[in-house]
Amino acid sequence: MISYKIYNHPKIKGGLLPPQQWHSLLSFYSFHFPPHTHFSFNNTNLFILSIFLIVRKMPGLTAPSDYAREPPRHPALLVNSKEPFNAEPHRSALVSSYVTPVEFFYKRNHGPVPIVDDIHKYCVSISDLVENATELYMKDILELPKYAVTATLQCAGNRRTAMSKTRKVKGVGWDIGAIGNAVWGGAKLADVLEMIGIPKFSRISPLGGKHVEFVSIDKCKEENGGPYKASIPLSQATNPEADVLLAYEMNGETLNRDHGYPLRVVVPGVIGARSVKWLDSINILAEECQGFFVQKDYKMFPPSVDWDNIDWSTRRPQMDFPVQSAICSLEEVNCIKPGKVTVKGYAVSGGGRGIERVDVSTDGGQTWIEASKSQKAGTPYVSDDESCDKWAWILFEAEADIPESSEIVAKAVDITGNIQPENVQVIWNLRGILNTSWHRVLVQIAHSNP
Ligand code: MTE
Repeated sequence: MISYKIYNHPKIKGGLLPPQQWHSLLSFYSFHFPPHTHFSFNNTNLFILSIFLIVRKMPGLTAPSDYAREPPRHPALLVNSKEPFNAEPHRSALVSSYVTPVEFFYKRNHGPVPIVDDIHKYCVSISDLVENATELYMKDILELPKYAVTATLQCAGNRRTAMSKTRKVKGVGWDIGAIGNAVWGGAKLADVLEMIGIPKFSRISPLGGKHVEFVSIDKCKEENGGPYKASIPLSQATNPEADVLLAYEMNGETLNRDHGYPLRVVVPGVIGARSVKWLDSINILAEECQGFFVQKDYKMFPPSVDWDNIDWSTRRPQMDFPVQSAICSLEEVNCIKPGKVTVKGYAVSGGGRGIERVDVSTDGGQTWIEASKSQKAGTPYVSDDESCDKWAWILFEAEADIPESSEIVAKAVDITGNIQPENVQVIWNLRGILNTSWHRVLVQIAHSNP
């Protein structure tokens, strides 16, 4: 990849320059070249290049092999795995604001968090099925029109712990907090691709590309120490209304290390696995990404498939997430006084489908009341209206009398009428993804002694 990147560098293009021009070019672009690069130029160029590599400076972004230089994290996070770091907020933190504070936004990593050595040297290469391979520096990305997109990111493994109670599943255990809502700031991928010659609303690029692959630099054991990568269809990437971002800000602040500093992809309405952090390169491909996390993970299988009979090639990689909701104002089991209880939570659907309704039951699903829904303060939520954030969750609230111990349940319906399944058993799958079954919590009434 690196040799390809260098070979296709727009200023070099195959090493055909005479030696004296190499010399001035290399002094000018000295910060460009990563270490351990393999070159196949003629001997003179190779000699100059070797000297250059000896005196070269550090690259912009590096990936550590261990966890010695992890960023600081909020102590209130519930840590599901320490190395790699995977953590979620307490339930109540999810509904304390529409926009999730960065420190309480779930963190989902597959390896040690990369480090930026020098932001001026950091660049993203764009290559493969493109006429002019390009490298974009942070300053190039900052020059593009900036968009702020409010979008909920949800890990496909959200609510996995509850699924594994039915039957064991493989993967990091998550309660209901592998989800968060943020205002992402950055350039639209559609603008970036247009700049390199792929028009907006393209299904196929001039050179036959149909997928856009994002490659990071983190070292993931699932990729045998290689980087995390994923792809999305070109039609989605070039559609400005799909709002796919190369984001450098989260909630108005520079992206932090855990969330992908200096640059990450945000694919709204799609499982979090496709929003690649610490972006290193973008490849335009004829086929979808062949990486582990696209081909051998994040696919939904029927309950009959187990590790003995799995055939990964039979399923499509998961993209949009289904309609989801969860109660956040109550823990798994609660002891409360008889009387009114306030039930608060979140609801969201993938693909930009708004939330039509959230039903809450205080008797295990026998009877239901409709919860109120909100997004931004002062703007009433209307599921398919322009004034609302189509990629973002809604927060819901309902108040009910609870005379005796019971099960409180929430289920959401999206604008296309999709509804959460009643039981987790029917959607059980061996990787424990997409647990969108009705969310249930138990309340016990504590009758005080006379
Ligand atoms: N990108 C890289 N480079 N490495 C990763 O481990 N995890 C993915 C995605 N992008 C991941 C990644 C997954 S599975 C999810 S759910 C989201 O990032 C989580 O993003 P967050 O940590 O900002 O919440």
